[in-house]
Amino acid sequence: MKRYSRITGTGSFLPPRRVTNAEMAADLVARGHETSDQWIVERTGIRARHFADVGVNASDLAERAARQAMEAAGAKPQDIDLIIVATSTPDMVFPSTACILQNKLGIAGCPAFDVQAVCSGFVYALTVADSLIKTGTASKALVIGSEIFSRILDFNDRTTSVLFGDGAGAVVLEASDTPGILATDLHADGKHVGILCVPGSVSGGKVLGEPLLRMDGQAVFKLAIGVLEDAARATLAKAEKTEADIDWLIPHQANIRIMQGTAKKLKLSMDKLIVTVDQHGNTSAASIPLALDTAVRSGKIKKGDTLMLEGVGGGFTWGAVLLDF
Ligand code: UT7
Repeated sequence: MKRYSRITGTGSFLPPRRVTNAEMAADLVARGHETSDQWIVERTGIRARHFADVGVNASDLAERAARQAMEAAGAKPQDIDLIIVATSTPDMVFPSTACILQNKLGIAGCPAFDVQAVCSGFVYALTVADSLIKTGTASKALVIGSEIFSRILDFNDRTTSVLFGDGAGAVVLEASDTPGILATDLHADGKHVGILCVPGSVSGGKVLGEPLLRMDGQAVFKLAIGVLEDAARATLAKAEKTEADIDWLIPHQANIRIMQGTAKKLKLSMDKLIVTVDQHGNTSAASIPLALDTAVRSGKIKKGDTLMLEGVGGGFTWGAVLLDF
């Protein structure tokens, strides 16, 4: 019998501190930079984001999301035989956030590692977990996106500080004799490293370079629109499906204009688009599983629906996963 993988539970967690555009604008203005709620909403669709308190790490958010996903799947920590955390804001340089999370969940022995593909991290992690399940290496995986981007924001840069937030989303992905994940498509092009990066490193006990997020927003915007359409079409072709088969489009939640542009290119009506960017901001690798869990818990997404998940971000990386939920 052919072996597939299927999502059996979703979960998410947002740190309690909700920061509105008005608060962000007041802080920027106090620092001498002009901005407004109106500019942020019109250009991005973002109205609020959540920021984690000092001392809270990506593994803490991941633990809350993972426990919720396991509860939804009826899985116990001891049932999990693979943990993949997608993050660009790990607790430490090493060990991986996945290993730290594994210990917090009270599990030992199963493989645990991080995936670093910035905002495409979750679709990368889901694709790797799907492959490891299909080859029989794992049967019940935790796949998580968890980020604390507030730690790497430059609060004197109005072009980036208003865009990002913190949070985590998780799924349990299980072996199944029916799909599940129908097709995946991953890409990267390292010549675009400079348009979205945190150009700092640790050396000799000191930070070298600038450990804060830098982005050429317009360059990222243009690339994102093109590759998201390509990845969606390639994934549909691999699964021998068409746009008409998509019940819900869950793109990376970075900018409502990019998301609407992608839906339009795929000729999908806007009510098939899952939108959480207004309340979460851009939570990088966490944005897709956070949006997925929010839509599942609100009753929008139902068992059997066909979902197109799409990520795009620093690297430059991009990819898509088509699945029956
Ligand atoms: O997560 C990975 C994926 N990331 C993304 O997908 C982000 C992609 N990029 C974007 O979402 C958009 O490019 C931004 C939201 C970052 C910027 O929107 P834009 O419509 O491309 O604006 P812009 O960069 O063309 O800037 C327009 C103007 C500029 O002023 P001038 O040069 O026209 O005087 C900016 O300096 O808006 C100015 N501006 C702001 N004004 C008020 C930039 N940020 C702000 C701000 N408040 N926060």
